[in-house]
Amino acid sequence: MANDTKRRDFMGMALGGFTALGGLGALYAMKRTWDPLPSVKAAGFTTLDMTIYKENELAVEKWRGKPIFVLKQSKEMLDTENKNMSLLTGKTTEAMDKKRLIKVGDAYYMVCVGLCTHLGCIPGYTPEDKSFLCACHGGMYDDTGMVTKSPPPRGLDIPPFKIDGTKLVLGEEGPEYKKMLADGITMPV
Ligand code: FES
Repeated sequence: MANDTKRRDFMGMALGGFTALGGLGALYAMKRTWDPLPSVKAAGFTTLDMTIYKENELAVEKWRGKPIFVLKQSKEMLDTENKNMSLLTGKTTEAMDKKRLIKVGDAYYMVCVGLCTHLGCIPGYTPEDKSFLCACHGGMYDDTGMVTKSPPPRGLDIPPFKIDGTKLVLGEEGPEYKKMLADGITMPV
């Protein structure tokens, strides 16, 4: 009789244990259902290590399924931009603000969505000319993504970004990006 009681007690404890474990398992399963998948969590953001890019060499990254052009500027490219800007504005080159470029550390980068703002073709870059050509309708952009030949209605769009040391987080809106939006340098993508 005593043995029966012990066995029942043991069975009761074991069942209780299983139930508790089952409950935990169910809770875990529910939590997994509530949490976004890791791939979904990471999908909105792309972190770029800006130290790996070479001057005047176009790199194509990906953010939210879109191609992202990254073009590190050489001194020569910056000098040309300064020259063009000073011709346009009449200001000295030292005062020039490279408005479409992103400064990370000491270097300047063009970081743009690689889709033509006319009808969405992917423009090609020619390092010798430092210029982008969209073969669909002949639109052209300079090495900062500014339109140099129509029909594109505006420069290449700049994705939301946040500077984080030597990294650039695409998908986050840092103060530099917000200023670009406020100044009308780019449109929200
Ligand atoms: S899609 Fe690029 S010029 Fe028309």
